[in-house]
Amino acid sequence: MAGAAAAVTRRAVTLLLSSRFRTPASRVSSLIPIVGASNRRFLCASSVSARTAEPAEAASQLGETVKEFRKRFRIDEVKGGPDQGLDWVGKGLTVRGWVRTCRVQSSVTFIEVNDGSCLSNMQCVMTSDAEGYDQIESGAVTTGASILIEGTVVPSQGAKQKIELKVTRLVVIGRSDPTTYPIQKKRATREFLRSIAHLRPRTNTFSAVTRVRNALAYATHKFFQENGFVWVSSPIITASDCEGAGEQFYVTTLIQNDTEDNNFNVSKIPTTKDGKIDWSQDFFGKPAFLTVSGQLNGETYACALSDIYTFGPTFRAENSNTSRHLAEFWMIEPELAFADLNDDMACATAYLQYVVKYVLENCKEDMEFFNTWIEKGIINRLNDVVEKSFVQLSYTDAIDLLVKSKKKFEFPVKWGLDLQSEHERYITEQVFGGSPVIIRDYPKEIKAFYMRQNDDEKTVAAMDLLVPRVGELIGGSQREERLDYLEARLEELNLNKESYWWYLDLRRFGSVPHAGFGLGFERLVQFATGIENIRDAIPFPRTPGSADF
Ligand code: 4AD
Ligand code: MG
Repeated sequence: MAGAAAAVTRRAVTLLLSSRFRTPASRVSSLIPIVGASNRRFLCASSVSARTAEPAEAASQLGETVKEFRKRFRIDEVKGGPDQGLDWVGKGLTVRGWVRTCRVQSSVTFIEVNDGSCLSNMQCVMTSDAEGYDQIESGAVTTGASILIEGTVVPSQGAKQKIELKVTRLVVIGRSDPTTYPIQKKRATREFLRSIAHLRPRTNTFSAVTRVRNALAYATHKFFQENGFVWVSSPIITASDCEGAGEQFYVTTLIQNDTEDNNFNVSKIPTTKDGKIDWSQDFFGKPAFLTVSGQLNGETYACALSDIYTFGPTFRAENSNTSRHLAEFWMIEPELAFADLNDDMACATAYLQYVVKYVLENCKEDMEFFNTWIEKGIINRLNDVVEKSFVQLSYTDAIDLLVKSKKKFEFPVKWGLDLQSEHERYITEQVFGGSPVIIRDYPKEIKAFYMRQNDDEKTVAAMDLLVPRVGELIGGSQREERLDYLEARLEELNLNKESYWWYLDLRRFGSVPHAGFGLGFERLVQFATGIENIRDAIPFPRTPGSADF
């Protein structure tokens, strides 16, 4: 039986593809257009092999072939075109989504359906002769219910849209009790919506943020792929602390959930004779953590494949209850080989301009929404980001500028101290009129061990890219590629040299100047949507005291 099934898999040669999932023409011998029942065109691609009859025979003995994948048209594709759907007039369409409102009038019923593909709802107009009208009469079509509607696209009488759907059939898929459905018509606060994070994507704000986040992720891969970077997966579990800030979450099996009420007896944690935790008995045989950054691993691949980037989740156990900090956030970390700090800044600038331009061009409806409801003027602000060159200045000059400003800051301003959010925001928002600014060459004492020492011996080749409202969006540096300097720095900082043996090896064998940066993806989402709190820039935020959903 198993052998026969394998033979079927090996011989399966017929491919059916929807228009979005075409194989390159060279791999397809013939493309036969098929018009689907709902006016959709599909391309049937048959392969070059002559053995097409065999799998059908075998399949008839063993079971049925898997159903063909068909892309479904979503509201965005119908209404989002240049003529806002008028080219669909007269065509049949099936909409599946969630009811936003249902207004029953004496002769017609208006149902607004949203399927999450865009902000626009499909206005569906239903008369009592349509199939499923009994569902309207029974009151099952309420806000939040999921429904399927079939109908014909017609020009709309209303001023709000060009087209609407004349319903021929309605099916209620999942009911929603209107008295307990938490999303009501009146505007809810963001705080309240965080408490219903499982339902908030059904609101305009959160669906728009989610689509823009998706577009930013897509544009990120597009930018790096187009520029020859290779995507590398850095590990989530690690034994090293990249940033050396001690903000790591432990990953351990020494605490076993062996009781029903999660009550673990501490005395069961194995200890050494002198009362310390015996890590040798832990899963990895030593302390392990959730990564704070994929950089060190990224460097190893850059020192082999030249330019790479990572894009994955990172974790920080810093107890910062601010609008810019999460305990779990996504980071994009490119690493450029044969590159210095100037190359790094150029890459960060080009990347940021590229992804911002991408959302301005591809998320127009959502961006208009943010411009009206979230941050007035955001489109102009982002257009400036795309068009204007970024300014860079040294940390020393930034300190001078802050001191000379005579402004009263909460935190002290002094050479050697780190810049706080209020300083960073003052620089971008007040001094440079809202444009991104890069500060470079920070004192080595306030930066991580891996940054390359400058000739002045006081500063390192670091750079932070600051943006209005958010502050630090990117942190990066040229890496110390000189073995002796790096070893000396590890010693100076009392870091365990042995545990960095593999990192040091990169400096022993074919070392190259290299540089990279890390961009906090949720801060980018904040920057591109204007959303004030980082907890609203990620689907399920994890912050001190909060890991629900
Ligand atoms: O400046 P950071 O700590 O730099 C690094 O981790 C380097 N290893 C990056 C590199 O060179 N490859 O973090 C980089 C960025 C910050 O600029 C910020 O945008 C974001 O990560 N970030 C956070 N975002 C949300 N919540 C937090 N707790 C964050 N901590 C850092
Ligand atoms: Mg930083």
